[in-house]
Amino acid sequence: MKRRTLIRSLLAGGAFLGNPWGPLPLLSAAADATRFYNRLAIPPLYSGKQKDGVRTFELTARQNRTDFWPGSGTPTLGFNDQTYLGPTLKMVRGESVEFRVRNLIGEPTAVHWHGMHLPAVMDGGPHQEIANGGRWTARFSIHQPAATLWYHSHQMHQTGPQVYGGMAGLILISDKHAEALSLPNIYGEDDIPLVLQDRDFARDGRLIYVRHMHDVMRGKRGRNILVNGTLAPYIEVPPRQIRFRILNGSNARTFTLGFPDNRSFLAIASDGGFLSRPVSLQRLRLSPGERAEILVDCSTGEDLILRSYPEEFFIGRQRVRGFDTFDLLQLRVKGRGKPRGVPARLLEMPPLPPQELLPVRRFTLQMAMGMRMMRGEGFTINGKVMNLHRIDERVPVDTWERWEIDNRSNMPHPFHIHNVQFRITDRNGLTPPAHEQGWKDTVLVDPGERVGLLLRFERYTNPSLPYMYHCHILEHEDRGMMGQFTVEQEKNRT
Ligand code: C2O
Ligand code: CU
Ligand code: CU
Repeated sequence: MKRRTLIRSLLAGGAFLGNPWGPLPLLSAAADATRFYNRLAIPPLYSGKQKDGVRTFELTARQNRTDFWPGSGTPTLGFNDQTYLGPTLKMVRGESVEFRVRNLIGEPTAVHWHGMHLPAVMDGGPHQEIANGGRWTARFSIHQPAATLWYHSHQMHQTGPQVYGGMAGLILISDKHAEALSLPNIYGEDDIPLVLQDRDFARDGRLIYVRHMHDVMRGKRGRNILVNGTLAPYIEVPPRQIRFRILNGSNARTFTLGFPDNRSFLAIASDGGFLSRPVSLQRLRLSPGERAEILVDCSTGEDLILRSYPEEFFIGRQRVRGFDTFDLLQLRVKGRGKPRGVPARLLEMPPLPPQELLPVRRFTLQMAMGMRMMRGEGFTINGKVMNLHRIDERVPVDTWERWEIDNRSNMPHPFHIHNVQFRITDRNGLTPPAHEQGWKDTVLVDPGERVGLLLRFERYTNPSLPYMYHCHILEHEDRGMMGQFTVEQEKNRT
């Protein structure tokens, strides 16, 4: 359907001979400490440069090579000094920020600030394409609370391969409120970013991207896990409460996180910031695009393994269960410590308007099989394939609305909306679990499920330049499961 681009040519995609996995750890291999042989990479923290009240970040995306194992020489994409992924960008609520992006990846790209509230022209979506060799500057103010966001390629039809190649990084917003909470906050020591991604490698070291229709239908999933770009990682941590900021940066795989002894951990934040209070969990399902911050008590001094358990969901009454259990990260705890208290309250959640009176907008997700799929019309929202020249929804600014996401396909889809943090009101009419009651920008919708969201777009309007909403399985997004909305001044506003 699409021309073979440069990035695609860096990724192994065609036929291959023999076992391409080589000596790499496979997902279902049994737990064994000798399997954790690489120290976890921590993306460098980058706070930009402050001048005249503006915090400026220079971000150059380029082609590179990364040794995921000695000598793999894998062609990858990275930002600045990172050969794969990019630095963690740190900024503070209330600041003006400027991102000077330079594209040296060899083909056009776009760089999107996922989770950020910003003017449409700064969004970094498909309308803000940066030519190869070109530059693009985004400038806006941070009007949202402390949260873990991320940035990634959003090039039309090429988001999947570009992110798979490495074009992603984290954004940390902090604020006075977050600083005042007594939570672990030493980056890389007790406040640890984890970018979870699955990848397939060919024996020659190249990443294997989509090879079959199957990789498109389910989304590209890999048999090897990278955490911050590290295969088979371990990290040494002090014997106290450890905070993990987890991003599911995979193209398509949903993780179900937990520990082999089923110990509980505390969820403290979701996509858009803190939960109102810590929520104790034994398992946490995290779909592509979603973030979660958790606290793990390492004070007992035992080593731990962060694991992902098989995905489970329902199609109607039929339970579907994956079979892949795999280890993500080993925590090597140095010494013994004392457990520390956790703040009982994290954030005052503003009251929501009564929803019965709100306007409702409906979004139906569908996957067509057969001829429609072959023609490239298989992935739709409200029966439509993404079209850059069509505005699908016009939304009034500063107005609460209820959006309903209806999944009529037979697999889960993570639905993401740009420029906003929303609240999940219900899943098929039932209150969502406590850890889903905070601010969100991406929500996993199971087959047959209808998820209700409450949202409001503030301050920025532009009747001609849209934002996106889409499935965050990047192969679905790239093939049309995406739509566009503008935020507009209400006409007869008094
Ligand atoms: Cu994370 Cu439209 O993207
Ligand atoms: Cu986004
Ligand atoms: Cu999807």
